[in-house]
Amino acid sequence: MCGIIGYIGKKRAAPILFDSLKKLEYRGYDSVGMATINGEAEIEIKKGSGRIEAVNEKEDFLTLKGNIGIGHTRWATHGAVEDRNAHPFTSCNGHYALVHNGILENYLELKEDLKKKGHVFTSDTDTEVLVHLIEEEMNNSKEKDLVKVLSKLTQIAKGAYTFLLLDAKNNIIYAFRKDSPIIIGIGEDELFASSDITSFLAYTNKAIILENNQLAILRDNCSIYDIQTGKEVEQEITTIDWTAEQASKSGFPHFMLKEIFEEVEISKHALEQDSLKFNGMIDVLSKAKKVFFLGSGTSYRACLLASIYFAQIAKKHFMPILGSEFKTYQNLIDKDTVIFAISQSGETADVLEGINIAKTKGARVVSLVNVIGSTIMRESDQYLTLNAGPEIAVASTKAFTSQVLILTLLAYGLSDRLKEGREHLYEVVRKLEVIMNQSDTIAILAKDVLNKNDLYLIGRGASYPIAMEGELKIKEIAYIHADALAGGELKHHTLALIEPGVPCIALVPNDDTKDDMINNIMQIKARGGKIIGISSEHLELFDYYISIPKVHLEPLLMIPVLQLISYYLSVIRGNDPDFPRNLAKSVTVL
Ligand code: G6P
Repeated sequence: MCGIIGYIGKKRAAPILFDSLKKLEYRGYDSVGMATINGEAEIEIKKGSGRIEAVNEKEDFLTLKGNIGIGHTRWATHGAVEDRNAHPFTSCNGHYALVHNGILENYLELKEDLKKKGHVFTSDTDTEVLVHLIEEEMNNSKEKDLVKVLSKLTQIAKGAYTFLLLDAKNNIIYAFRKDSPIIIGIGEDELFASSDITSFLAYTNKAIILENNQLAILRDNCSIYDIQTGKEVEQEITTIDWTAEQASKSGFPHFMLKEIFEEVEISKHALEQDSLKFNGMIDVLSKAKKVFFLGSGTSYRACLLASIYFAQIAKKHFMPILGSEFKTYQNLIDKDTVIFAISQSGETADVLEGINIAKTKGARVVSLVNVIGSTIMRESDQYLTLNAGPEIAVASTKAFTSQVLILTLLAYGLSDRLKEGREHLYEVVRKLEVIMNQSDTIAILAKDVLNKNDLYLIGRGASYPIAMEGELKIKEIAYIHADALAGGELKHHTLALIEPGVPCIALVPNDDTKDDMINNIMQIKARGGKIIGISSEHLELFDYYISIPKVHLEPLLMIPVLQLISYYLSVIRGNDPDFPRNLAKSVTVL
């Protein structure tokens, strides 16, 4: 979703902003823009709808002068995908330019009022209202102090409005956080402000994560104010242990493929949890009367799988809930409840909404996140981290694998069998490379057998949510209709869709689901369906076979197989797996 970046320093801003905007592309966007302050204290803007390279061909961003500027990638909410709706927007007097992440809810009402006061608008966005509102309030204020003005403005403006404001009169960038994250990067003689650490990681890994209602004033130094108290606050500088190299493709054709291959290494880091934090988490989960997992998209599939392993391994009933469906269950939440939020980005609005509701009911919130300093992490009483490094591809892969490994280890920990759990999980981790070595075979199978209009996936027990994650991935990046079922459900409906030649991926681990899976496979074969078996055993029933090593937790080795299948299907069909249409990496709207 929308990405924002600001730069102030000794270098030319435009090339740095351009580079950073390219790093923000992965969040998903449809328009891009940039504003700088030129030598004459004037704001110059270039912007347009489309991908950054295409807009740059027309606009030539690098001709923008000056060493102070802001940039934006827009994911349309208010106003169509048109050049005039791209950020930044300027105030009537031309002193300010603004980029925004979030939604200004009462923008229509505010816009009408501002129009009456003579403000002229050029777009259909909520964002443009914000810059005019700031201009109006600044004009009316005696002190011309944005800290004071914002304290009033937050009473008037409803919604989420994290923004960067370029002040051409004073050569300042203001960075304000209202709900969506904003991080200040502290370089040598230069400062950054962005929605995303990865956008300035090539320049610095020292960062200040702004809290809600904090305003950072960036000049030759950075000062931070709490706009509710009006006082300057102390700055806590965090060193981010991610590297710029981790956020690059490193020779792979796509981030997604690189991130799947990274699972071999980062899975080890996932299991190397800080023992104090890990045991603390086990303690909270063991004492809770009720535990609800909360997640969206791929992270929700991890919740589903976790609920199965917690039932099987730890004999606990922990219920998975979709972030967007949390409200439906809110009557079940009380002070004896623990909400266990699972999120790669730590910013998913649906999950955050659930957390906020749960907090008002006195529940305890714990989380498992990848992005350090993310909102979900900060809203949690306790948290664990995935240690997966930056995940750039929209389709989540290495984060899912890490989530599942850590959650399974927690299930073992909860049943006092941590040593046994570690052994089983490290056995899985050691075998991941075997899967990666088969990627060429998987690519051929994807091309020759699976590249059809409809695909089915079946699994049982722990393999069922893994089949669901496979289904999600295939739809998300290959744009193929896929349907995942618990094997036993086939006979209740979807068997009606099985015709001769229809490909069905069957997850057949060597566990207590195997015999039932064989029955389900027979039902499909009797209708002419073609079975692609993923198993440690080459069963005669399989028309095609993908071999996985024999381990105790075999379903976990099927995860990268399905990720690779979806990746190759996407590439074969001419899609860009890193940027699936209409989807975004970090979904910060409800
Ligand atoms: C988006 C992404 C998915 C992700 C989901 C949840 O839809 O495209 O890949 O699974 O959000 O994200 P989270 O960051 O909370 O794991």
